[in-house]
Parts: sequence; C-alpha cells; structure tokens
Amino acid sequence: MTDSSKTATLTIDGTSYDLPLLSPTAGPNVIDIRKLYADAGVFTYDPGYTSTASCDSTITFIDGAKGELLHRGYPIDQLAEKSHYLEVCYLLLYGNLPTASDLEEFEATITRHTMIHEQMHNFFRGFRRDAHPMATMVGVVGAMSAFYHDSTDISDPRQREIASHRMIAKMPTIAAMAYKYSIGQPFVYPRNDLDYASNFLHMCFAVPAEQYEVDPILSRAMDRIFILHADHEQNASTSTVRLASSSGANPFACIAAGIACLWGPAHGGANQACLEMLKEIGSVERIPEFIARAKDKDDPFRLMGFGHRVYKNFDPRAKVMKQSADEVLDLLGIENNPVLQVAKELEKQALEDPYFADKKLFPNVDFYSGIILEAMGFPTSMFTPIFALSRTVGWISQWKEQLSDPAHKIGRPRQLYLGETARNYIDVEDR
Ligand code: SDX
Repeated sequence: MTDSSKTATLTIDGTSYDLPLLSPTAGPNVIDIRKLYADAGVFTYDPGYTSTASCDSTITFIDGAKGELLHRGYPIDQLAEKSHYLEVCYLLLYGNLPTASDLEEFEATITRHTMIHEQMHNFFRGFRRDAHPMATMVGVVGAMSAFYHDSTDISDPRQREIASHRMIAKMPTIAAMAYKYSIGQPFVYPRNDLDYASNFLHMCFAVPAEQYEVDPILSRAMDRIFILHADHEQNASTSTVRLASSSGANPFACIAAGIACLWGPAHGGANQACLEMLKEIGSVERIPEFIARAKDKDDPFRLMGFGHRVYKNFDPRAKVMKQSADEVLDLLGIENNPVLQVAKELEKQALEDPYFADKKLFPNVDFYSGIILEAMGFPTSMFTPIFALSRTVGWISQWKEQLSDPAHKIGRPRQLYLGETARNYIDVEDR
C-alpha cells in the first residue's frame, strides 16, 4: 500500500516534511503521519476522527458518497437478498464465501456453542427485573471471561478462533435470556434443530406451557436484520473494541466494551430512540412540527434514524430495511401500521426539505429497523441488544484482524492541551 513515488509535503515554519501517501484498493488516499511527531514535533487534531484512518483493514468498505457498503467486496444488498447470516459471519471472519462443506462445518460448530455455562444463569437474577437488557448484556458478556478461560489467551490463534465462535453462538442466547428475565418468563434453552434466526426467535417467544412454531417469514426477516447490522468499518463501537483489544484485554471484555459503546442514542441506541420518536410524532399532521424542531439550532432534538458520519447519500442498509418493513408488515397483515405511515411520510418530507438535503441527511440503518422489530413482537428495549447481537461478528472479525497484525500496538492518542501551565501549590490559608 505504500507507493514511495507519492508523498504529501507539510511545511512548518519554513521546514518541509515529506509524508508518505498510502494507496488503498478503494477509497481516499491516506497520509501516513506515524513519524510526524518524531520528525516535526507536532500532533494532528481530529477529535471526532472525521478525517482519520485508525487502522488498515480488508473486511468492510463504505463509500459514503455513493451509498455503497461492501463486506469482503460483496455488496450488502446482494448479501441481504442471497445469503444468510451465518454465511456472512463466515465471510467476515475468513475473507471468502464458504464452500458447501465449510459452511456446513461452520454452522455445526456455531450451533454447538449456543448454550452458556449453567452457573451464568445466576448473573441474570442479580439484576433488577426492570434493568435495560443492554445493561444485562454488558455485565454477562464481560463475565464470560470468568468462565471461558480456555479461550482468553489472545496470543493463541486457536483460542482466538474458539472465542470468536463462542461469541457469535452465545450472543443470541444471552440477549434472549436478558429479554426473558426482563418479562419474568423462564429461560428457553437453544435448540440445535433450528437455524440461527429461528433459534433466537424461539428463545425469545417460546414458553414451556405450549408449543411455539417459528414463522418462516419472521425468521427470514430476523436473519436479514442480522445481516444488515453485521459490520460497518471503523464505527464507534468497533473502534472501542479495537482500542480495548490493543491493550491485550481478553475477547469477552473487548466485546463488553463494544456493547457499552453501541448503547448510546447517537449510535446503536438510535433504533430504540427512533421508534420512540415516531410514536411521539404520532400522526402525519405533526411531522412539520418535528422537522422544524430538528432544524432549530436552539433545540437539541434531532431526527433519530437520520444522518450518518459517512453516508452522505442513502444508507444502503436503510433501503433494504425499508423494503423488508413493507414485506413483513404486509405479510403480517399490519400494512396500515400508523407508525410505518408516519415513518414514510417523515422520510418524504425531510428529503424534500433543503435543510436535510443541504446537510446530506438521509435515513440510516436505524430508521426502519425498529418498525420491523416491533411488528415481530419485540419491545423497544430489545432493539439495541439485537443490534449488538448482530454486530458481534463484526466486532470479533475486526478484533481478530487487529491481533493477526504482528505490527499492531497499543492505541494511545495524544491531545491538544488547553489547561493551566505549571504553577506552585498554595496552602489553603493563603488562597
Ligand atoms: C449508527 O458510524 C457508523 O457506521 C454507525 C452505524 C453502524 O452501523 O455502526 O451506521 C450505526 O450509529 C447509525 C447512526 C444512528 N444515529 C442516529 O440516527 C442519531 C441521529 N443522527 C445523528 O445524531 C448524527 O447524524 C450522527 C451521530 C449519526 C452523525 O453525526 P456527525 O457525523 O458527527 O454529524 P454532526 O453531528 O456534525 O451533524 C452535521 C450537521 C449538524 O448541523 P450543523 O452543526 O452543521 O449546522 O447535521 C445536523 C447537525 O446538527 N444533523 C442533524 C441530524 N444529524 C446531523 N440534524 C437533525 N437531525 C439529525 N438526525
């Protein structure tokens, strides 16, 4: 990636510094500033990382201007239409689509790791019933490092692979248990005869008192939602996982850190906040009032599910999600869902408004997902746990990629210091 013929020249106080220009296989060129401080004694300043590449990666590529998302080169809309989540997990983890036998072996491995240690059931009972499932997931996933010692040695590639399989396999079980606990129903054990998405729905909605048959329409929609959330380049939670991993922390602690970061309403928490916003709007007549609030600089209100740091065009996942919302609600006979009507009219009016057009604010992955999840029977509190469950393969793939790079080092940013310069202590009686 280093092309010595290409450099960027920085001149400071009359002295010029040649910085190598790194050539990507796709996307913008990258100025290599790794030696800048040593050579020129200056830092760069980019608090929101709007112009900073934190790493190199081969997993996911996003073109924000074109609204393009590729996983190992495959467009997200093709994967959503033709693939299924565990095949996408294999693709993200290993770099290529699996052969039929590789896929069969991978699925069998994941299926046989879905149970969690029986003693971990006690963790759930330590939480209040009304605890947010994300709080429970952060706690229980972090606690996995107390139970799975045989897959915490990150220097051992085999242990890294076992930890990866365990995380992908156990997250649906943990998310379902967090949900069951929050509604006072008994835990439902995973079943090896069900596919990944059907198993999750069964663990969430089955009760011992009667047979629960998974609706194939819902399991297909669930699997598609898992695919659409699987990975997304160096987003906030993935960057959190990479930074935690850079200190040598064990994989379960790193994923727990990613879950904590994802929870925020500016990130994965937006799907819950978006549905709550659509319900607060309540009717198409009130949409102009909320659009005005979103445009008002003095009002902190933002249209949840709108805007994105990278996409300055449609989020390709939102397009697939919108189509899926139409299909699922139609098939479930709730195509006149008032919330869906408000969402579609809000999208229409916002996209016709110069404020949103000028700032290139489009619906993102979180705008329609909550409508589907609610139609499937999930409470809003389960929306972000489902995002976390889906994103675990992305976090763990990026974690694995970072650890596989022998040159990786601990992440340790510097700062622009604006505080007091050195001064002497003053005794309290002299202040
Ligand atoms: C996810 O990074 C990823 O890839 C994340 C994600 C993933 O898969 O991992 O895609 C998942 O997190 C999607 C985003 C979900 N969040 C939301 O829907 C929350 C609402 N959106 C925003 O808060 C915002 O758009 C962000 C956080 C998503 C992006 O923020 P940026 O890139 O830092 O942009 P910004 O806050 O600097 O906004 C730029 C301008 C501002 O106006 P000015 O100060 O320039 O006048 O656009 C305005 C903002 O006020 N703006 C909005 C808005 N989002 C941005 N105005 C109204 N409504 C909004 N939603």
